Amino acid sequence: MARFLIRTYGCQMNERDSELLGCLLRDRGHLPTESEEQADVILVNTCSVRDQAERKAVGKVGLFKRLKRQKPSLVIGIIGCMAQAHGQALLDELPHVDLVVGPDQLHDIPDLVEAALQGAAAVVATAVREVIPGDLSAHAPDQVFASVAVMRGCNQFCSYCIVPQTRGRERSRPLADIVAEVEQLATRGTREVLLLGQNITAYGVAEARHEGGAGAAHPRFADLLRAVHAVPGIVRLRFTSPHIRFMDADFVDCVCSLPKVCKAFHIPVQSGSDRILQLMHRGYTAADYLRVVEAIRGRLDRVAFSTDVIVGFPTETAEDFAATRELMRRVGFDMAYIFKYSPRRGTQAADRFPDDVSAEVKLQRNQLLLEDLEGSVAARNQARVGQCIEVLVEGPSRRNAARWQGRSDTSKVVIFDPVGTLAPGALVRVTVERATAHSLFGSIVP
Ligand code: SAH
Ligand code: SF4
Ligand code: F3S
Repeated sequence: MARFLIRTYGCQMNERDSELLGCLLRDRGHLPTESEEQADVILVNTCSVRDQAERKAVGKVGLFKRLKRQKPSLVIGIIGCMAQAHGQALLDELPHVDLVVGPDQLHDIPDLVEAALQGAAAVVATAVREVIPGDLSAHAPDQVFASVAVMRGCNQFCSYCIVPQTRGRERSRPLADIVAEVEQLATRGTREVLLLGQNITAYGVAEARHEGGAGAAHPRFADLLRAVHAVPGIVRLRFTSPHIRFMDADFVDCVCSLPKVCKAFHIPVQSGSDRILQLMHRGYTAADYLRVVEAIRGRLDRVAFSTDVIVGFPTETAEDFAATRELMRRVGFDMAYIFKYSPRRGTQAADRFPDDVSAEVKLQRNQLLLEDLEGSVAARNQARVGQCIEVLVEGPSRRNAARWQGRSDTSKVVIFDPVGTLAPGALVRVTVERATAHSLFGSIVP
């Protein structure tokens, strides 16, 4: 029996992988700990999407050198996307590391950890697998909110992005497995499910192609949504990340008409300039993006949009940036992640274009978008004051245990005073009395 600690960087897929890995290690009798000093095994689940993410992880692993000196039996592993992208080079740079294991080897980690605990030599395991290996369905107990990975990998090859290299080609799980996993979660009290895939709206597309083109009938994303929607006990359904290229009329109809699908959509736009979108290989124009947003808005009274944006992509001019600002203003996002372009080795953009937008200009553009956004998000939250909204109860608030917190259908944190016998997982109605840029505060409607 060993005590293990998993630190996670990166996206929700990494969070989910860490949760699953924790279950696999517990099944072998190992115990989780939050203390770096007490841990016998420390695994760092890493992200390669930007240079900053990589530097943070390397910095963290560097700090463990001291722990290893104090306790030579300590096993240190780098897992996830950085392991896949850099492999052996990580062992050369960080010789106190014992394991470098890519995302497709998740199920092998318990064996590798146990061998390392027995004193085995350092290992690099980064083979990419054609079929998604192993069962992905184990979850930590007592989750009102749970994430379910429905596919892995990405075939889009956006010119700036490392993910197709670190996560490999698109592979979708069988629909029946996903439904079984959601049913199992529902019987254990899960009420809200977040479906995950790097390019989730392409669910089943690669499989249909393999099965033989036109007639192939592998279920697609809309079929998956409908099937998961039918699981009793689940009251809310979300998904991330969709891609505009796959959001056709059937998709719009499906997400607008299924009542459990949250009316909050995260749709990465990346840029509002058609010239930049083309250099990014996104496969759509700003007008295409706006058309999808308007098609959804036209069907729903209340809907929230969020997005990802990259500023400072190579050759981005003041005019290109102005187009991004204008698009963001027109959509009126409820939330957005703004990133400064970071060249990734081996991607088309890094190979073909110099990183020619200066750090100052990137920072300035980043700040301008954040300021625009803060104003519009605050105004949107403020407009909620006086409204009655549906909240899925999570439990006592993290900041103040006397109050409780939950989430609105648009994913906002809502803080309220508990009344009666309130349990996590309940759906309540809350009148919003006050709003900040991050949270809503209110009272339960009896
Ligand atoms: N699969 C998702 C996003 C994956 S990465 C999608 O396509 O929508 C999450 C976000 O990181 C991307 O949406 C993009 O905005 C940002 N990103 C990816 N590569 C980047 C890079 N090289 N520099 C800066 N931001 C990047
Ligand atoms: Fe990266 Fe593009 Fe795939 Fe998203 S769709 S993971 S940005 S390559
Ligand atoms: Fe990062 Fe890998 Fe996710 S590169 S964003 S952890 S898929």
